[in-house]
Amino acid sequence: MSKKRLLSGVKPSGRSHIGNYFGAMRQFVALAETHDAFVFVADYHAMNTVHDAEKLRQNIIDVVLDYLAVGLDPKSVVLFKQSDLPEHTELCWIFNTITTMPYLQRAHAYKDAVARGKEINVGTFDYPMLMAADILLYEPDVVPVGADQKQHVEYARDTAEKFNRMYGDTFKLPNTYTPKNVAVVPGVDGQKMSKSYNNTIPLFASNDELRKSAMSVVTDSKGVDEPKDPETCNVFALHKLVGTEALDDIEKRYREGGIGYKESKEVLAERLIALVTPLREKRTELQGKQGLVEEVLAEGAEKARMVALKKMEEVRRVVGVTI
Ligand code: ADP
Ligand code: TRP
Repeated sequence: MSKKRLLSGVKPSGRSHIGNYFGAMRQFVALAETHDAFVFVADYHAMNTVHDAEKLRQNIIDVVLDYLAVGLDPKSVVLFKQSDLPEHTELCWIFNTITTMPYLQRAHAYKDAVARGKEINVGTFDYPMLMAADILLYEPDVVPVGADQKQHVEYARDTAEKFNRMYGDTFKLPNTYTPKNVAVVPGVDGQKMSKSYNNTIPLFASNDELRKSAMSVVTDSKGVDEPKDPETCNVFALHKLVGTEALDDIEKRYREGGIGYKESKEVLAERLIALVTPLREKRTELQGKQGLVEEVLAEGAEKARMVALKKMEEVRRVVGVTI
C-alpha cells in the first residue's frame, strides 16, 4: 500500500521554542517518517508581518536548520520554500476570483486582528486563500496543524468544493490532523508559551540561558516545607513535558512539602540542558555546512515542482486560460 501524503507549512517567524518543539516539531518529524511528506517554509505568509529583508532571510535559514536539527530527513521528506514555487501565488489568485469578501471576513484570524484594532494588509485578509493554494496543489491526505489553524484547513476544503462545483472535479478535499495528547506548553509567565508573549524557553538556547529561563518560571510564594499543588505549578508542568526522572518522587515532595521551588527549578534546568544539548550540537554542526540549506531547498523545490506544475496545468485548462 502506498503511503498517505502529508503536507504542512511552517512560518519562518523567529527562534523556535520548547512550546513549538513539544506542540508541533516533534510530532511532525514522527509523522513524516510514516508518510509521503511535503513540508514547506511559508515565507510569503511570513511577509505579512516581516518586511525586513535580512531578517526574513535569516528566519528562513533558521527554520530550515531547526527542523533538520530535530530530525526531519530531507532525503525522505520534500522540504521546500513556498516562494520557490510561483504556482502557490498563481493558484491563490485563481481562488481569489471565486471567493467572496464576506466569506474571508468570517475567518478567526481576521476577526481577531479587527478586534484588536489593527490595520490589516490585504495579504493578511487573503491569508486563507494562499494557504488553500498551498494545500490543494499537493492533494494531501492529511494536513497536521495546531488548533489555531484548523479553520484555515476548513477554508481550503470549502474552496476546493466550490471550485469543483464550478469547474468539475479538480481538487481532492483535505483533512486536518491535530495530534492528540498535545499539551499546551506554558511559558515562563504561566500563559501559553508564545513568541508573541515574550515568555519562551528557546529550543536551541545555551546552558546559561536555559538555567536562567528555568529559574524565571513564575510560581506562588510557598516556602520549602509547605505542601504544593503539582497540578497548578508551571514548573511541574514543564517537568512532565521534558520527562524529568523520578517525577513520582518530586510529586510526592510537592504534595507533602519538602521541596522548594528553587530546587524544583534547578532539577528542571538540568533536564532541559540534557534535552537540548544534543539538538543544539546537531544544529551547530549543520550550520557549519556551507550551502546546506540552499542545497536542501533546491532539491525540495525540484521535487515539489513536479507535483505543483502538473496540477496547475490542469487548473489553467479547466478555468479556460489555456487556449
Ligand atoms: P508562536 O505562538 O510562538 O508564534 P507559532 O504560532 O509559530 O508559535 O506556532 C508554531 C507551531 O507550534 C504551531 O503548530 C503551534 O500549535 C505550536 N505551538 C506554539 N506554541 C505552543 C505551545 N505553547 N504549546 C503547544 N504548542 C505550541
Ligand atoms: N498558517 C500556518 C501557520 O501559521 C502555516 C501554513 C501556511 C500552513 N500554509 C500552510 C500550514 C499549509 C499547513 C498547510 O502555522
